[in-house]
Amino acid sequence: MHQILIEKIKDKPPLDRLDNGFVLHFINEFFKRSNTLKIKCENETLKEREIKKIVKEVRNELNKIYGQFWKVKKVKLNLNYDIHQSTFERKEFYHALYEKLFSITGKPKTVLDIGAGLNPLSYGLIGNDVFYYVNELTKEDCNLIEEYLKKNKFKFEILQGDVLEIKEFPEVDVCFLFKILDSLDLRDHKTSENLINKIKANYLIVSFASVTTKNRGMNYPRRGWFEQMLKRLGYKFNKLEFVNEIFYVIKK
Ligand SMILES: C[S@@+](CC[C@H](N)C(=O)[O-])C[C@H]1O[C@@H](n2cnc3c(N)ncnc32)[C@H](O)[C@@H]1O
Repeated sequence: MHQILIEKIKDKPPLDRLDNGFVLHFINEFFKRSNTLKIKCENETLKEREIKKIVKEVRNELNKIYGQFWKVKKVKLNLNYDIHQSTFERKEFYHALYEKLFSITGKPKTVLDIGAGLNPLSYGLIGNDVFYYVNELTKEDCNLIEEYLKKNKFKFEILQGDVLEIKEFPEVDVCFLFKILDSLDLRDHKTSENLINKIKANYLIVSFASVTTKNRGMNYPRRGWFEQMLKRLGYKFNKLEFVNEIFYVIKK
């Protein structure tokens, strides 16, 4: 029954690129909220409309953290900034962004990019002399990123999979957590805090969107919880504001 649910959920691109185990994790999260449907699923007595409800709700959750960012349903090899929401929004200020970030952190020799999306397309602005560790969720997206980085002669290693399942991170000068924490903190902010504590980097650069993916303003673009958490953990930080995005440069 779980397999049928997984297949139905993945029947809509770009969710078809997600690994089955990741989708299953979200189905189990759904069942934590609905024990009746969980039992029916185990007994294989789910009605058609109940299956539809599960598929719809799990898809909604997966779209919040993955699907909504891809502006095309099928990604082919000619990657560009325009097909991912985050790079699309950043393309006008990438150059200025890296200049400002590295004026604080110094030019890194090693970078870890978590939930990288298509941010690797901007590595040319950082340089080919840097070693990049790149994390993304799905095998397909990682293959695309790998082909791009190989073709453009970058030094890199791909870390494919759910970042929350990575046991040990490489030690790096700078770690990018661009627009990813909101995707990880579906219930509370403990997940972000654990991740931030676990990463071994001289600097963390964390960003948040200040508009929604539909270009609407946000009620709390400056993440109060995040600044309070940094203060509680005793990390010093600088804040940089760009058009649609706020960056925190954090000294670990
Ligand atoms: C808003 S996008 C940001 C992409 C990129 N960091 C940027 O700002 O250009 C969030 C990205 O995180 C990835 N993602 C979401 N959950 C993840 C997880 N648990 N582990 C690794 N990557 C994840 C998604 O696939 C998506 O590409």
